[in-house]
Amino acid sequence: MKATAVAPANIAFIKYWGKSDSKTRIPHNSSISMNLSHVHSKCTVEFDPLLKQDDVGFVGEEIVKPKEIERIIVMLDRVRKFANKKLFALVKTRNNFPKATGIASSASGFAALSLAALTAIGKKLSGKELSIFARLSSGTACRSIPDGFVEWKKGTSSETSYAYELYSPDWWEICDVVVVVSKKMKKVSTTEGHRLADTSPFYQARLAVMNEKISQLKKYMYNRNFSSFGKLIEEDALNMHAICLTSTPALIYWEPKTIEIMKQIIEWRESKEVESYFTIDAGPSVHVICEKKNVNQIQEKLKDVSGIQQVIVNSSSIGARLSDKHLF
Ligand code: DP6
Repeated sequence: MKATAVAPANIAFIKYWGKSDSKTRIPHNSSISMNLSHVHSKCTVEFDPLLKQDDVGFVGEEIVKPKEIERIIVMLDRVRKFANKKLFALVKTRNNFPKATGIASSASGFAALSLAALTAIGKKLSGKELSIFARLSSGTACRSIPDGFVEWKKGTSSETSYAYELYSPDWWEICDVVVVVSKKMKKVSTTEGHRLADTSPFYQARLAVMNEKISQLKKYMYNRNFSSFGKLIEEDALNMHAICLTSTPALIYWEPKTIEIMKQIIEWRESKEVESYFTIDAGPSVHVICEKKNVNQIQEKLKDVSGIQQVIVNSSSIGARLSDKHLF
């Protein structure tokens, strides 16, 4: 009754922001993302008849919020109910990147936890079912289940809202150079942020063009048209942050360094030094999206920017998978 799973974080090219049903995490719009090769969570779950309660922990992390533990226990309850078993579990998770800084730790964490917990309790789900199961704990987690480049179809119900592989990881050699500018945990959770989306006077305008954006982006990905793809993902990131900035209360996820790097990226592009585009999730980290051939040059250029905490280079990766190397 023990299993371990590894799942990647993912970066959204067209963002998920706002839910039509917050309980089941059905989004207002579909989204598109890429799974990341070098930022992932590993999770081991063991259901044990001798345990009197769940025992949940993170390897190598001193500060764990009680809310994080609660959210994990809610998922374990869902797994127990699904398998009709009343057993408590020992759960350990290890992230290989800083949490809650704009790299989706809830995505990789809950994708790995879903696969590990369901396997440990003896349930084998299809990719679609697993994506739905992961979504119930964190929306973006559903996109960390399939391989490579992924679309999360918003659907119209819990059964029809899931992510699937658009293209395999080797479809397109594009990279996400993650620039971590601060390791402080963000103050407002994304779950709270989603709730505020429709307080922005611009939110309906965003939603009105989402279907069109999704089909445009899929076309650019199919044709591997990097310039058009880059312009659209940068525009969507700014659009999502415009919603955050104009919500009540306003959500400002950026730090001064975030803006400095955004401006650098535009300057490198306009001066024809190197073409890359930024995207930013709900945190200060900047994701520099570029073609693989330009990664070294971008890394070199980032060395000239002071105050960067960490740079993590990612290509497209496979999704959640089981591992036989347990954490305990
Ligand atoms: C800003 O999945 O963290 O990263 O469903 O409430 O857990 P919950 O939210 P979460 O959403 C984060 C969204 C985003 C944009 C994106 O990745 O699409």
